[in-house]
Amino acid sequence: MKTRVLTGITTTGTPHLGNYVGAIRPAVAASRRDDVDAFYFMADYHALIKSDDPARIERSRLEIAATWLAAGLDPQKVTFYRQSDIPEIPELTWFLTCVTAKGLLNRAHAYKASVDKNTEAGEDPDAGVTAGLYMYPVLMAADILAFNANKVPVGRDQIQHIEMARDIAQRFNHIYGREFFALPEVVIEEQVATLPGLDGRKMSKSYDNTIPLFAGGQKHLRDAIMRIVTDSRLPGEAKDPDSSSLFTIFRAFASEAESTAFRQALVDGIGWGEAKQVLFERLEVEVAPMRESYDALIARPAVIEEILQEGAKKARAIAGPKVAELRDAIGLRSGT
Ligand code: TYM
Repeated sequence: MKTRVLTGITTTGTPHLGNYVGAIRPAVAASRRDDVDAFYFMADYHALIKSDDPARIERSRLEIAATWLAAGLDPQKVTFYRQSDIPEIPELTWFLTCVTAKGLLNRAHAYKASVDKNTEAGEDPDAGVTAGLYMYPVLMAADILAFNANKVPVGRDQIQHIEMARDIAQRFNHIYGREFFALPEVVIEEQVATLPGLDGRKMSKSYDNTIPLFAGGQKHLRDAIMRIVTDSRLPGEAKDPDSSSLFTIFRAFASEAESTAFRQALVDGIGWGEAKQVLFERLEVEVAPMRESYDALIARPAVIEEILQEGAKKARAIAGPKVAELRDAIGLRSGT
């Protein structure tokens, strides 16, 4: 039997280098294998948790879809869809909600971070926290379990969510006495599990420190790279590659041999400006050809929409019977 690989991206922003190396690139590589059945999607239900700006969500969906396709995804081979086209997902979310311990959700990083921030500020711990944020991990579990995914390629920040999906699946299987769900495993590429952003913290839409993969074109990419924060060591002074986000980003795009050579150049005291130019040129080798397809795709939203509609049909052909089976098993009418 083929391994089911599944991953999604939330439609709240412009795809950045972190999304690309953490999720898109490994996922596209996995999808080319013959023993893999891949499911990739735009998580627009998740977007509603973070954004109430319809135009932003719509634009982000188009950009993310075009990015997947430009990165080499073959929609004939892969099931490529928009989360909100699959009504079985919110339905399954409810089934899972009813077996999920509230205590499990209390421990979710994103929820806890908001509570801790409020507490530190001396406010009501739940101030501004929506039930959507609280339920985020259950919705994500439904994304994964609706397709019985075995492997989920993600960056490090998503590990806890996959572990929670496993817990929820186990609990459901236990309560209803059958292996309804496979237990999903996280797939992490250690080297790129957390790509740093402009300021050295994790590259993230929420920190506003991202380097967009395609948006704004080549000049924008170069300008962003020139803004990566570096220490004050001057040309000629040795740099420490291991504490440099510039080097970490370079490594995510380069071969072993190229990384060794760049490491040596930093130790030998190459100036930061020159080092940034080297990084830019290395990135361009991989990004430039994809950017051309991206620009062509983004100008044709109707084509993308058609691809997503086809993907939704394929996805529902799997999620539909799965949810019907669950409805029967838990005492509801299947409706099919
Ligand atoms: P999102 O949209 O925040 O990020 C999409 C993917 O990009 C990875 N990523 C990174 N990887 C390395 N370094 C970084 N700096 C970096 N920033 C982001 C993320 O780890 C993620 O893999 N909840 C998810 C979307 C989602 C999902 C799912 C994923 C919804 N349902 C089911 C997998 C399976 C999210 O918000 O990712």
